[in-house]
Amino acid sequence: MSQQVTVVGAGVIGLAAAWRAASAGYRVTVVDPEPGRGASWVAGGMLAPVTEAWPGEEAVLELGERSLRRWPEFARELAVDAFDPGLSEAGTVVAGRDAADADQIGILADYLGRIGRTVEVISGRRLRSLVPGLASALRSGIVVPGDLAVDNRQLLDALQAACKRNGVEFVRESAREIGPSAVVTDSGVYDADAVVLAAGARSALLHPQLREAVRPLKGEIVRMRPRRGCLPPPGVTVRAIVEGRPLYLVPRADGELIVGATQYESGYDESVKAGGVRELLDYAEQVYPSVSEYELTEITAGLRSASMDNLPLIGRLSDGVIVATGHYRNGLLHAPVTADAVLGILADEGLPDEIAAADPTRDRKREQV
Ligand code: GLY
Repeated sequence: MSQQVTVVGAGVIGLAAAWRAASAGYRVTVVDPEPGRGASWVAGGMLAPVTEAWPGEEAVLELGERSLRRWPEFARELAVDAFDPGLSEAGTVVAGRDAADADQIGILADYLGRIGRTVEVISGRRLRSLVPGLASALRSGIVVPGDLAVDNRQLLDALQAACKRNGVEFVRESAREIGPSAVVTDSGVYDADAVVLAAGARSALLHPQLREAVRPLKGEIVRMRPRRGCLPPPGVTVRAIVEGRPLYLVPRADGELIVGATQYESGYDESVKAGGVRELLDYAEQVYPSVSEYELTEITAGLRSASMDNLPLIGRLSDGVIVATGHYRNGLLHAPVTADAVLGILADEGLPDEIAAADPTRDRKREQV
């Protein structure tokens, strides 16, 4: 009889882990009141470790790059088991609006150069020739051809289909409590040989060891579509810095444009703040002026799960409980490497070296030193 694995959380991390575990022969149950929603549903879909790199976060960059390398194969396998998740290899540009924003671009480029990732800083004029429609005021930019993007909602649908195809059972309820060998919901107790806690920011409410380690970090996004006669969205992902704040515009194959994302602490409040949306619209127009003529199709907020050092927590947390949360801005990016790690831990292969930096007990170990 194969082992029973119960995954708490059906965002991209929980679904990817459930799919991999089920295809490896485990009996898998996923507990989530709304599979395929949460932060993964709200995400822009950037798979961009280099574009989003920052000095001091080398371990985040390395983990992101490892996972990025697995993305094409992950997407291919998902297409075989379900359908194409909408991976885009069009690439990314980074754009700086004013002189101070251009300085930040310079800092990013120097940093990437120092750690061996050579990138070329280009002028605003060159940027506009690569991406027609960008604002004439943009000062400078960087081209990052290797960073990818994915259609987050198509991905979530594909993962759910792949899970079902591999026999994963879904329990549409909230987990109230988790223990070494069970997940408790309002309607019953789901026994398990192993519990995988992948409930994003809510993981902190379900395990005492995560109370201080993981916190919600709100983000709002705006989705829009060009109206008839409007310039279409940019052909590549645009990551911009405007007045020192990060913004991204991620085009979808069906013509939609995702503009994101705000980032601030607001507890578990998932409401959309008017000022956050105003900022996104204002900055998006400063980067790609045509968006002011677009149809606004959706405004949504979600809660990223953030850790103290912006690295995820992946590994054994307590007896029978494996955690996979705290992915911060990188949940979609980190899905392949996290799912592989969970599979390795289930098979008792221990924590792979490549995710040693994501040891979920690292905060406690640091305190003990
Ligand atoms: N990955 C970008 C964000 O979290 O907004």
